[in-house]
Amino acid sequence: MIDPRVSVIEKRLKDVNRILVVSSGKGGVGKSVFSSSAALALNVLGYKTGLLDLDFQGSSDHIILGEGVSFPEESMGIRPFKLSNGIDFVSFSLFTGESALPLRGVDTTNAILELLAVTIWDELDFLIVDLPPGIGEEVLDIIRLIKQLEFILISSSSLISVKVVKRLAALLKNMNIPIDGIVENMASDSSSYVADMAREYSLNYLGTIPFVSQLESEIGNWRKLKDGLFVDYVSSVIKQIIY
Ligand SMILES: Nc1ncnc2c1ncn2[C@@H]1O[C@H](COP(=O)(O)OP(=O)(O)O)[C@@H](O)[C@H]1O
Ligand SMILES: [Mg+2]
Repeated sequence: MIDPRVSVIEKRLKDVNRILVVSSGKGGVGKSVFSSSAALALNVLGYKTGLLDLDFQGSSDHIILGEGVSFPEESMGIRPFKLSNGIDFVSFSLFTGESALPLRGVDTTNAILELLAVTIWDELDFLIVDLPPGIGEEVLDIIRLIKQLEFILISSSSLISVKVVKRLAALLKNMNIPIDGIVENMASDSSSYVADMAREYSLNYLGTIPFVSQLESEIGNWRKLKDGLFVDYVSSVIKQIIY
């Protein structure tokens, strides 16, 4: 049976121009800080921007941005929470707060389906989607449910991360999903694994973000984050994708 929610999702996203999915396969490499910062950078550049946190168990964009997000407005569906800078924000945390959601496989898929089917996005130039780690359920669901997406891959400089990101890159290439490129985060000068991978997989190497020690003091305050060094780096990465 065809799930009617699947066709609704296309309608819900029809006014969104570009959907950038931030993914890695690996956890802890900076997907969430990059996603939140990319939304801030695009917002500063004057683009209408949305941020969708699809990390079901580990949602953290609301913690990074830190504006008291609250239950979204309902009107035959839900409207994204509007940050005071105009970014439209949706996360499972809008509904669950800081509680864990003890859901298994198919229930997770259903929750994602439901969230995508009920959220009515306004006209947006860019929607940034922050994914959980892993190359399973959520990645496959989002590829199946959302048309016209573009992936941004994030890796740290470590071989441990690069090996996992390679699996994701291979999967996406096999499925003919567009990849904008790869970002090396928390980069170490002595490593060339990410640059080598970019060459091997014919990916755009979108740039290097070093470890930024003041980032932690900016977490939870998007105004501080927006003016900080980390967002500067993210902004130069994101400009390569949008121009
Ligand atoms: N370039 C960086 N400089 C300093 N800290 C970073 C940097 N990138 C990520 N972090 C920190 O690393 C941790 C993991 O980042 P996070 O965005 O949660 O990763 P992911 O979403 O991939 O699991 C966070 O505490 C984040 O603040
Ligand atoms: Mg994350």
